[in-house]
Amino acid sequence: MSKRAADFIVQEIQQHPNSSLGLATGSTPLGLYKELINSYIQGKADFSKVSTYNLDEYYPIQKVNPQSYDHFMNENLFRHINVEPSRIHIPNGEHSSAEGACLAYDEELRRNGPLTLQLLGIGLNGHIGFNEPGDCFAGSTWAVDLSLSTIEANSRFFEDSSQVPKRALTMGIKDIMQANKILLVVSGAQKADILQKSLYGPITHACTGFRVATSSKCYCYNRQ
Ligand code: PGA
Repeated sequence: MSKRAADFIVQEIQQHPNSSLGLATGSTPLGLYKELINSYIQGKADFSKVSTYNLDEYYPIQKVNPQSYDHFMNENLFRHINVEPSRIHIPNGEHSSAEGACLAYDEELRRNGPLTLQLLGIGLNGHIGFNEPGDCFAGSTWAVDLSLSTIEANSRFFEDSSQVPKRALTMGIKDIMQANKILLVVSGAQKADILQKSLYGPITHACTGFRVATSSKCYCYNRQ
């Protein structure tokens, strides 16, 4: 899964050196990021003109916090490849206001037009980014109150669930759907049920993944 998904991204960068890539965090893309780093080391991928836009970030959180997505991306991808720091964009968990951070991020997204490719994982409850079940499909970047199931799922990275931030900044489904291509990677038997629901419906706000996975521009790689 990781190799095929990384090859998909590398091909995109080779064809469009100025690509703007929407990137995701979580366990699922880790293997893919290792493959991208290998492609860079082998000279197959040049990130020097690529811009990156991350899907989401906890709020509030300091960038230096090892649980921040800023830290995750630096450790698992950015510091190993030749992406320009000025071309890296992540919602700002340090902003004095969550709404201000969302507006600023939307402005950055708009300035650079639709994303060439958006990489996505999917949550156990079908969330995309931090767009949780029941959330609106029409919005841009916004500040979300995390659902209990997401807080519990993410508590594996923290000492306990009380440490998990209760809010996050996330690109909206509208932003995600504007990407030219969407690459959905899904791994593990525990995601089989939600992937099945996402791919085969019914269309309902209870499953955020459905809106994305059934789009004709969505390529889905999964491994059980
Ligand atoms: P995971 O997270 O890759 O860690 O399962 C995916 C998600 O919650 O979107």
